[in-house]
Amino acid sequence: MILVTGGTGLVGAHLLYQLSTENDTIKAIHRASSNLDAVKKVFSYYSEEYERIFNKIEWIEADITDIVTLEKAFENVTKVYHSAALISFNPRDYKAMRKINIHGTSNVVNLCIEKKIEKLCFVSSIATVDKDPNSNSINETNEWNYENNNYGYAITKYGAEMEVWRASQEGVNVVIVNPGVILGAGFWKNGSGVIFNKIYNGLKFYSEGVTGVVSVEDVVKAMIGLMKSSIKNERFILVSENSSFKELFFKIADNFKVKRPTIKTKKWMSELLWRIEFVKNIITGKTPLLTNNSAKSIHNKFYYSSEKIKNMLGFEFESIDHSVKRVCNQYLKK
Ligand SMILES: NC(=O)c1ccc[n+]([C@@H]2O[C@H](COP(=O)([O-])OP(=O)(O)OC[C@H]3O[C@@H](n4cnc5c(N)ncnc54)[C@H](OP(=O)(O)O)[C@@H]3O)[C@@H](O)[C@H]2O)c1
Repeated sequence: MILVTGGTGLVGAHLLYQLSTENDTIKAIHRASSNLDAVKKVFSYYSEEYERIFNKIEWIEADITDIVTLEKAFENVTKVYHSAALISFNPRDYKAMRKINIHGTSNVVNLCIEKKIEKLCFVSSIATVDKDPNSNSINETNEWNYENNNYGYAITKYGAEMEVWRASQEGVNVVIVNPGVILGAGFWKNGSGVIFNKIYNGLKFYSEGVTGVVSVEDVVKAMIGLMKSSIKNERFILVSENSSFKELFFKIADNFKVKRPTIKTKKWMSELLWRIEFVKNIITGKTPLLTNNSAKSIHNKFYYSSEKIKNMLGFEFESIDHSVKRVCNQYLKK
């Protein structure tokens, strides 16, 4: 039996749909506060029979930071997809990220070892691959370096990867995927969904920073492909294309047939904005639009290579043009 964590999030919901079309025995965990309707909405993008497919999943209330509830979810499980995490660039969330991303993953790993799980797939991030601004081909061999990547999300995702490598040392077969920015439908208030939402509603700003981008459909396809393969104890960057935010934003605007953002964000602007947001966050507690780290990252130009998964799994990525078109269409149906 398959167990999925993070099934109520972007990656997990799309993953659960694909797994449910092929398997009859899937368990997924959710928290009391999770929104299961958002998962149904994602299923409805794929099939008119979404209710029937959704009902195949056995939902279990569990929190990855709570070993007692998590242990119950592991009953009769043989394969685990671990996608649950807290994604935040707000320094205030660092403690919570340590708890969920590192200690939560440690709990998942301990149960995988104890229950002799056949294979574990962990969703990490390109945040844990060291950045080399002088290279136009950052790959899986780039060792993560705290000095270059010392922001909370990267630290905690790296810590989580260390836990997963511990599982491999204890005899669990593991695969790790390191996706770039994931484009996908269904969650318009967080992750890349915010970009689609803001551009549709007239975002004015863009930057010329470059990063790796991939569709959620490709992330899910790669995860399932790796789990079915004999590949083990390897990590794989998942990036379809390296794109500037400018190119990406313009593509989204063109697909929506709305005005492209017109103002290029200069470094001084983002440096000023994150400071204003920092003060606003202290006074109001509202999530900052930009943080010290994200203000810098929107100007960085990093180019990632996904040659490893292409060579080892024969994997082919869809174009970002294609992914953007699909997500824009799904946004308009929301
Ligand atoms: N989105 C991206 O662009 C991107 C890029 C690279 C890597 N990733 C990685 O991909 C994975 C999935 O990301 P996503 O975009 O799908 O995130 P997401 O939409 O924010 O979903 C996060 C998921 O984690 C669950 N979760 C959080 N804390 C939990 C806890 N304590 N116990 C159990 N479940 C918990 C959430 O459940 P609730 O519904 O209960 O909150 C939700 O299902 C993450 O590991 C992330 O680091 C994401």
